[in-house]
Amino acid sequence: MAFYDASKIETLYDQATLDARNRELGAQITADYKGKGDLVLVGVLRGSFPFIADLCRYIDLPVEVDFLGLSSYGDRTETSGIVRMTQDLSEPIKGKHVLVVEDIVDTGLTMKYLLANLHTREPASVRVATLLHKPDGMRVHVDLDYVGFTIPDRFVVGYGLDFSRKLRNLPFIGVVTNSDLIYPNTP
Ligand code: PRP
Repeated sequence: MAFYDASKIETLYDQATLDARNRELGAQITADYKGKGDLVLVGVLRGSFPFIADLCRYIDLPVEVDFLGLSSYGDRTETSGIVRMTQDLSEPIKGKHVLVVEDIVDTGLTMKYLLANLHTREPASVRVATLLHKPDGMRVHVDLDYVGFTIPDRFVVGYGLDFSRKLRNLPFIGVVTNSDLIYPNTP
């Protein structure tokens, strides 16, 4: 029995669909960066951890993987509009090709902040791979180079995306249709 009530979460993209899209994106990224020099994947914590873990295994190149943490939603479903860096990269990116790996671009505020920050570190290039893009939510323009799925303006959970800090471990992406008693089988 699952820890959540499946009748309260509508599936948008199941595990097989996510896997197939990750494989396609990985192949595209491999082709684009082959022979181009050092590539570092930069995962944006916390939401990107399942996506970057799965995507990097479909990239057939000697990539580095690093992480930084950004937060603007806290426990809310609406952005505060203020992006906070909660953790910085472990290594310099000067002269390297950087591919930012995000779970979702919604208003674009997080990505805009991040790209401005990364450019000051003089990388060879910066591109963005996001699993989900919500065009209706965009408040600022950012160029997205690799997009897994374009989604409607709904609050999505799972596969890294949280609902009050939980549900990041769902293996699929879904929408909570009823937030009462999502966890009936846990104390
Ligand atoms: C989420 C998500 C993106 C950002 C996108 O992060 O992981 O980083 O919001 O939203 P935006 O385009 O409207 O800025 P959140 O602040 O919830 O932190 P988390 O990844 O730790 O859940």
